[in-house]
Amino acid sequence: MEHVTTPSWAMFAYLVSGVLFILALRGLSSPATSRAGNRYGMIGMVIAVATTLVTHEIAGLPEIIGALAIGGGIGFVIARRIAMTAMPQLVAAFHSLVGMAAVLVGWAAYLNPEAFGIAEGGQIHAQSCIEMGLGIAIGAITFSGSIIAFLKLAGKMSGAPIMLPGRHVINLGTIIAILSLVGYFTVDQSLWVIGLISLLAFIIGFLLIIPIGGADMPVVVSMLNSYSGWAAAAMGFTLHNTAMIITGALVGSSGAILSYIMCKAMNRGFLSVIAGGFGAAPEAGAGGAPKEQRPWKRGSAEDAAFLMKEAESVIIIPGYGMAVSQAQHALREMGDVLKKEGVSVKYAIHPVAGRMPGHMNVLLAEANVPYDEVFELEDINSEFGQCDVAFIIGANDVVNPAAKTDKSSPIYGMPVFDVEKAKTVMFVKRSMGGVGYSGVDNDVFYMDQTMMLLADAKKMVEDIVKALAH
Ligand code: TAP
Repeated sequence: MEHVTTPSWAMFAYLVSGVLFILALRGLSSPATSRAGNRYGMIGMVIAVATTLVTHEIAGLPEIIGALAIGGGIGFVIARRIAMTAMPQLVAAFHSLVGMAAVLVGWAAYLNPEAFGIAEGGQIHAQSCIEMGLGIAIGAITFSGSIIAFLKLAGKMSGAPIMLPGRHVINLGTIIAILSLVGYFTVDQSLWVIGLISLLAFIIGFLLIIPIGGADMPVVVSMLNSYSGWAAAAMGFTLHNTAMIITGALVGSSGAILSYIMCKAMNRGFLSVIAGGFGAAPEAGAGGAPKEQRPWKRGSAEDAAFLMKEAESVIIIPGYGMAVSQAQHALREMGDVLKKEGVSVKYAIHPVAGRMPGHMNVLLAEANVPYDEVFELEDINSEFGQCDVAFIIGANDVVNPAAKTDKSSPIYGMPVFDVEKAKTVMFVKRSMGGVGYSGVDNDVFYMDQTMMLLADAKKMVEDIVKALAH
């Protein structure tokens, strides 16, 4: 099997798929072009897979078709069934497979190096040893780290950070040991070296993710996404496969950029996320005095409809609860009615609202909310001072002023919407007891201008639409 001299047409096909992947990423940067972006990505992947199958004698056609049918079938069923709210854990689970694939490819190359064109006289080239060792290590870290992320996001394991004593020393020591072993692998290619690299990497993936609290999980998932890309790129070098190198580098760098953007949105340093510990149970008193001792006002759908009809401007802030109750269609209808009444309606989206990047944008786009009514945090935050109604639907953390004032709060430092500056604040949520992702109470519930609309989000908005019609 010859890998070193890929035919020039195949190189060209790989280049075309690389360009299509870049167009896919470009398309995915805006909801308006994301469908086209997805399509470019799919075409690019078909070209890359077909080219690899034609140019390499990997396996017989029946085996390949069988594998594609089983894997594709499982993927198809999962994608059809998965609820939008369970997407983050699905993404984490899929990353674990990418990591495992990199480990298996690395082991296959180690066990049969001649077939991969990376050895002479039974001795694997030093450069290939490093690529393979790093690919296996990053793949194994991605695998075990993603499993922990999956368990935490799916609620099968506590989201609270688990802190081992001396963890920084243990982690640093393990990483140094892995890197030293990868170096040693170039001179000693015994089974125990690669075995130990794999084992330590599986362990460090586990150790790196358990101290990270739930609130930092989005950053972790995109960081693991980035790792899975670098593992694939390292394997692309081992296999002399340009498409894999390009794709891996694109995944690696876009994941890293996304992690950076999310860290900025949560005002968290990337290193402090990696070091873990964020999202621990809040200290007593975080978020103000205990809720039951403070008075609050309850409103009805009719009250909300009346106030919004009278308003000049309404800013809608959707959050995770809107996704849970699938209230986006009813919400758009409410916006349409208000606009007909001459009210200015805008939607304000926080970068980490919901449970995955772009969660709210996707749902609002699905409900055909016009893109020019949707604003990002920094573009709209200054408008709350002049706004009549801030309509918060299923959001909590992203509108919690404790992030600005309370140093003991687990969300301290995260930029949030200044909803408390609006003349009237309406909160749609199911109960006063329910808290957001980071588990903290919100002072805005108890403010004079706040009206609590306690119900399932979709039901409440439908009732408001009915009341507006009268
Ligand atoms: P959260 O702070 O999680 O608040 C959700 C709110 O929705 C709660 O107040 C809950 O109260 C309410 N709710 C739940 N189901 C509802 C329903 N059916 N109808 C009406 N209300 C409902 O949401 P957020 O403001 O969007 O903040 C996001 C949080 O998730 C941040 O802390 C962020 O860091 C974290 N996070 C984000 C991501 C990404 S990338 N977006 C990923 C993982 C974690 P009730 O229970 O009383 O109804």
